[in-house]
Amino acid sequence: MPERRLFLGRIRPDDLARVGDSPLVRPWDGHPSATWPYGSGGAPHAGVWGTTGGGKSSLLRLLLRGLVRRPGPRAITIIDAEGAGEFTVFDGMPGIAGIINANPAADAKLPDGTPTSVDRAAGALADTLALANERNEEREAAQRAWLRLLKDPAHHRAPDYQAPGEVWLVIDGFASFRYALRRYSKVAGDVTDDLVLTGRLGRKVDVHLVLADQVTYAARTKDDDGMPSPLRKQLGCRIGAVGELGMTATESQQAFDDPDAAKRIPPTPGGCLVQIGASRMPFVVPRWLNATDPDLDVPVGDRRAAYRLLPEAVA
Ligand SMILES: Nc1ncnc2c1ncn2[C@@H]1O[C@H](COP(=O)(O)OP(=O)(O)OP(=O)(O)O)[C@@H](O)[C@H]1O
Ligand SMILES: [Mg+2]
Repeated sequence: MPERRLFLGRIRPDDLARVGDSPLVRPWDGHPSATWPYGSGGAPHAGVWGTTGGGKSSLLRLLLRGLVRRPGPRAITIIDAEGAGEFTVFDGMPGIAGIINANPAADAKLPDGTPTSVDRAAGALADTLALANERNEEREAAQRAWLRLLKDPAHHRAPDYQAPGEVWLVIDGFASFRYALRRYSKVAGDVTDDLVLTGRLGRKVDVHLVLADQVTYAARTKDDDGMPSPLRKQLGCRIGAVGELGMTATESQQAFDDPDAAKRIPPTPGGCLVQIGASRMPFVVPRWLNATDPDLDVPVGDRRAAYRLLPEAVA
């Protein structure tokens, strides 16, 4: 099986000189690059933190570009909890199971009986949790079956288990997601609990979470919108995406458990820091135009060139 990693961004020469032998570094398109090992031995889930305008959504688009270009069976659900329609460019790409633009204001205009975007987002979370649970049951059953076969002295077979395809749940705007589901969904469970469970159950069975948000503290009140630590703990790949805006010591503490970590973020557009375990790597996300962004003042040719970095649409 090829190494399961996603490209995050390029490494500046100075940073490479300092942390060149990091397990997060791999050559990518001929450049030393920061990567996220998400398969076994790596971190299955990621959290992306950064102040508004720091480049979180841009980084998520780059991650998704890597995913839709990767061969192999995959089902990716993207929830744009800010309702900003920032992932439309992936419509119809290989492996995309759904793009949900959660927007309670638009939901209010839907005819009665139409499932709302918020309920569809709640459904996507519930489905992902149910799938992670099912896959764990199958995995356990395969292990028990192997033990039963052991009684037969002639048996030399490995457990009869087919690793399933990858499942990805990508949520841009965790706090907005949780708020919208709590406030507007009639079907949502406890969002944090469900995400924690999905993270825990998904680890061994190729169900991956990517959550992006601004850094906020989880208070004890019901309406707080921070990310509780049990959920933060599941997100083993931590990324700070702030570029030249930078992170305060408090934000750095929240994202990396270290007030000084963010000092290493390259102060340039697309500047980020990734941390997995004790390994850290600063990197710069290459600029990639969001081809469907209606507000960009760019020539059509540039949009088309950016779009051509994606595979051919399948649907
Ligand atoms: N890699 C990059 N190279 C150059 N500019 C970038 C890069 N990434 C982001 N930017 C610039 O920063 C702007 C904000 O980026 P983005 O929307 O990804 O931030 P965000 O963290 O998602 O913000 P918000 O919290 O408001 O959603 C982009 O419109 C773009 O101009
Ligand atoms: Mg954003």
